[in-house]
Amino acid sequence: METYQSSSSTPLKVPLVTSSTKNLPKSPYSPERSQSSYWITTFGCQMNKADSERMAGILESMGYNQASNELEADVVLYNTCTIRDNAEQKVYSYLGRQVLRKQSNPNLKLIVAGCVAQQEGEALLRRVPELDLVMGPQHANRLETLLIQVDNGQQVVATDEHHIMEDLTTARRDSKICGWVNVIYGCNERCTYCVVPSVRGKEQSRTKQSVLKEIKELSNQGFREVTLLGQNIDAYGRDLPGISSSGRRENTLTDLLYFIHNVKGIERIRFATSHPRYFTERLIKACSELPKICEHFHIPVQSGDNDLLKSMSRGYTVERYRRIISQIRERMPDAAISTDVIVAFPGESIDQFERTLDLIEEIGFDQVNTAAYSPRPNTPAATWPNQISESQKVERLKEINKIVEKTARRRNCRYQGRIEEVLAEGANSKNPSQLMGRTRTNRLTFFDRQGQSGKIFSPGDLVQVKISDVRSFSLTGNPLT
Ligand code: SAH
Ligand code: SF4
Ligand code: F3S
Repeated sequence: METYQSSSSTPLKVPLVTSSTKNLPKSPYSPERSQSSYWITTFGCQMNKADSERMAGILESMGYNQASNELEADVVLYNTCTIRDNAEQKVYSYLGRQVLRKQSNPNLKLIVAGCVAQQEGEALLRRVPELDLVMGPQHANRLETLLIQVDNGQQVVATDEHHIMEDLTTARRDSKICGWVNVIYGCNERCTYCVVPSVRGKEQSRTKQSVLKEIKELSNQGFREVTLLGQNIDAYGRDLPGISSSGRRENTLTDLLYFIHNVKGIERIRFATSHPRYFTERLIKACSELPKICEHFHIPVQSGDNDLLKSMSRGYTVERYRRIISQIRERMPDAAISTDVIVAFPGESIDQFERTLDLIEEIGFDQVNTAAYSPRPNTPAATWPNQISESQKVERLKEINKIVEKTARRRNCRYQGRIEEVLAEGANSKNPSQLMGRTRTNRLTFFDRQGQSGKIFSPGDLVQVKISDVRSFSLTGNPLT
């Protein structure tokens, strides 16, 4: 393979911009590669984490081993996020160190995958000429084919719109107990602040049958919990054929939940992320009827002000959001509700900001991910003149985080003294005599590995835990038996 001098004035090779129809033959498992190692760093959301697990599986099936250290790996892959500017900038600082390594180790392969790769494409090669491969999220399953092209001496950019082929690779999962299952890729919404539709492409749902097959495989491997994933999971199935005799779509998220519910060995099912515009009463009823569906819903509200929701193009009102929450609580009074909020969206007045604070207190969210608005490329809101100053952003973020923490602590108090079912996931890294797991409502919980009867619990066990200690973001307790 041709080598480069690490200097931005180095002329670029003409990169190979791949076409999705071009699929090179698979490279057989290579004994040489079994001496080689890989490293993946993942930024961003659960979707990226799931993609990274599949890409790690591909690398291992090709013969690479996981490196113990980022600075020793032969293949380094950054799976990137561009949801906000600070997320995007992280990758450039990480890349700097690897570019230095490449000067003395020209065989090092550097890959940028994920949403920054999709957003920047070839421009990323101009900025960092040392890169070997730039690949958008729709190409994650094609990593092996793309690496063969790199092995053939090409610098490769794979960012074209691509039909995501059903994945036949075994993902290398970080957890052995809780697994992600992608059910829909992409997003067709047009929220005016959001870069996701332009980097993740059009919605593509997997069939109910292939989702079921993957969940059965996970169960065979010992997994006990699955989380179904989609950027807008309520859109599941709208690109699939299938209308029932009554004229209703029969491939909705609700149908999918009924379809996959009874897989033996799987004890818990979660799903994310829900969109208030499409969250239906039928879905709420299904969640309350199906025992394995956990009582935790992540439903981003973004703002507590109707005019702002309109300028965000979210397609619902605060009143509709409240109705959804009360319908959930009618059927599942103890359900945990988490949300995302953006502060300092263009034009946000102090009154509008305060309406968001009031809504947080009123709803009593269990958890809120807050962020100050960050203008993103190719999004309408980035071009509006009514941007809020940086100092206001910092100020509002501080203020909202205080309310969020207070509300979360208040919500957490309800667990004091209660008995909760916890799925043990692994050891507490800070105290090996304890296991860590989650309640059905997704509360992180630590408890003694040894029960009162002397029984030693292991990852994968469902344990009844009496909660003795409550903090803002976690619980501690002891097994009942
Ligand atoms: N699909 C989900 C979330 C997508 S991104 C939804 O529809 O809600 C995760 C969160 O990042 C969003 O909920 C939003 O709160 C935040 N976010 C997205 N774009 C942002 C931007 N430009 N600036 C600040 N926060 C943003
Ligand atoms: Fe972004 Fe909106 Fe799609 Fe969520 S629903 S990913 S916020 S465009
Ligand atoms: Fe980030 Fe891409 Fe997810 S932009 S939040 S990694 S879809």
